[in-house]
Amino acid sequence: MNFLEERIVKDGGVKEGNVLKVDRFLNHQMDIELFNEMGKEFYKRFEGKKINKILTIEASGIGIACIVAQYFHVPVVFAKKAKSINIEGESYVADVESFTHKVKNQVIVSKKVLSPEDRVLIIDDFLANGCALLGLISIIQSAGASVEGIGIAIEKGFQPGGTVIRNLGYQLESLAIVESMDEKTGEIVFREQ
Ligand code: G4P
Repeated sequence: MNFLEERIVKDGGVKEGNVLKVDRFLNHQMDIELFNEMGKEFYKRFEGKKINKILTIEASGIGIACIVAQYFHVPVVFAKKAKSINIEGESYVADVESFTHKVKNQVIVSKKVLSPEDRVLIIDDFLANGCALLGLISIIQSAGASVEGIGIAIEKGFQPGGTVIRNLGYQLESLAIVESMDEKTGEIVFREQ
């Protein structure tokens, strides 16, 4: 097991509905030493890529993206979630449906902070169905910028997002891939990587 998988086993929890609770170290209370290890690992995995910007989505992606950015020495842009407002013109907009929360949001990024010369690394905490990632990719494409890679803390391997994104040809690096989890026993099984 790697450092993140060990931490998930130690401090994570399994809730009904296949929800992994990681709010003691990842998406509520945040362990910055752990984020640092993640930054180091992403830097290694995307070595050689000419990344000049990191893109994430509010809220939980922001903390991780900021620490990762210290290794790449690049700025972080976070896409904002908005409730169907008409701001086209000055912003790039994509529709994102959350299956977990059963809501449809628009995510927006100002045209001032994303342009065709940007080579973007996407960072997020979870990958489940992949809707958030597809929205971010669509925004990058609208800007004429390129997706250099995608770094995810925890991928839920039994949900379709990972397969969808890899089949599109992107370099997707997930530090922990949960293959299955059992809410009764609390057992979490990771994919060998
Ligand atoms: P997607 O992000 O891959 O499109 O999948 P989905 O629509 O199912 O995920 C919606 C939200 O639920 C996302 O957060 C995602 O991080 C979160 N999520 C999905 N599975 C889990 C899980 O097992 N455990 C936890 N803790 N979160 C999960 P979000 O709505 O964007 O919220 P935010 O926390 O980033 O603000």
